[in-house]
Amino acid sequence: MPFYTKLGKLPKKRHQVFRQADGSLYQEQLIGNKGFTGIASLLHHLRPPTSVTKVRKLRDAGLERDGNQTLRHRHFRMHRLPAGGSAILDRVPLLFNGDLASFFVQPDKEDDFFYRNSQGDELIYVADGEGVLETQLGNVPFRSGDYLVIPRGILHRYRYTSKGPLRFLVIEAGGYFRAPQRYRNEHGQMIEGAPFNERDMRPPEALITHDETGEFPIVVKQYDALTEMTLDHHPFDVVGWDGYFFPWALSIHDFEPHVGRFHLPPPVHQTFECEGFVVCSFCPRPYDFDPTSVPAPYNHANVMSDEVIYYASSEFMSRKGIEYGSVTLHPDGLPHGPHPGRMEASIGQPRTDELAVMYDTFRPLYVAKSVLSVEDEEYYRSWVE
Ligand SMILES: [Fe+2]
Repeated sequence: MPFYTKLGKLPKKRHQVFRQADGSLYQEQLIGNKGFTGIASLLHHLRPPTSVTKVRKLRDAGLERDGNQTLRHRHFRMHRLPAGGSAILDRVPLLFNGDLASFFVQPDKEDDFFYRNSQGDELIYVADGEGVLETQLGNVPFRSGDYLVIPRGILHRYRYTSKGPLRFLVIEAGGYFRAPQRYRNEHGQMIEGAPFNERDMRPPEALITHDETGEFPIVVKQYDALTEMTLDHHPFDVVGWDGYFFPWALSIHDFEPHVGRFHLPPPVHQTFECEGFVVCSFCPRPYDFDPTSVPAPYNHANVMSDEVIYYASSEFMSRKGIEYGSVTLHPDGLPHGPHPGRMEASIGQPRTDELAVMYDTFRPLYVAKSVLSVEDEEYYRSWVE
């Protein structure tokens, strides 16, 4: 995100002699996108981040499409997928196109390796669970309802502090996640009236420097494959960094919903923009407040857009038959709208407690084969009374 942050100790000038107690130089590393012109951070390590002793390919990570391309509305009950495994290695592919790939994972163990996604930025929605995202740039504590934005190239791993289930919705993007441009002024600062601002965005808050040598495996995603490389020292050996390129968290509960006298369209719920899609948060809020308003949305044909909703609670004003953990796909080519009775039922209601994450893509999505086992195949007929 475009605000300057620093942690740890830094020399007065960039690219200046900066020595450790034993007289050796700290090792600088610039991490950033768009070559040397995009947003970046400058890290100072104890040891060179380049000292790889071994590499081996773990496996391909390509995505397989559902072969049935019959155009219809789809519904998947993600929480019914088998739970367990690693937050990285056991992600179940959900929906994808050339701009993004989305996954769902319900891990039950911590990884013994570090992870770097080099082919995409990641947005994690923590539906359930609590822990710490440990990164080279410091720790980001997280809990249920948090979005974690992890720019590509940031080395990290998850540590959990909750005993209950862990559930993550993962969106891996070809572009990069940021607050929508219309929320920011020409300096990048969030403007007054934006639904969240810098005080809600949580950068790493503790930088822990590990001075250890040995064998440290790092799993890297690149070329639609996973490669394991072994580093000869602990990769979290940064003593200080500064810049604009870092992981950060935002709670969906810190998104301040906008409400109107009559229905406002989904762009008021927009939380992130990215190349080829947007992400919106539907949060608990008072309903549209004119006594004659219809708070449930009107039918709409989302031309040039596929719409995906992850239901982060079992309540959603316009839907029936969905459950906590459902994902619906309303593809371009078919109009969609409230289920029968929902418009009428919404009139006069004072508020909604719905909680949902929506991603709308500008190019069609493919369904991954791996979620067909939890598909509600009758969903497309659910508007028939
Ligand atoms: Fe919609």
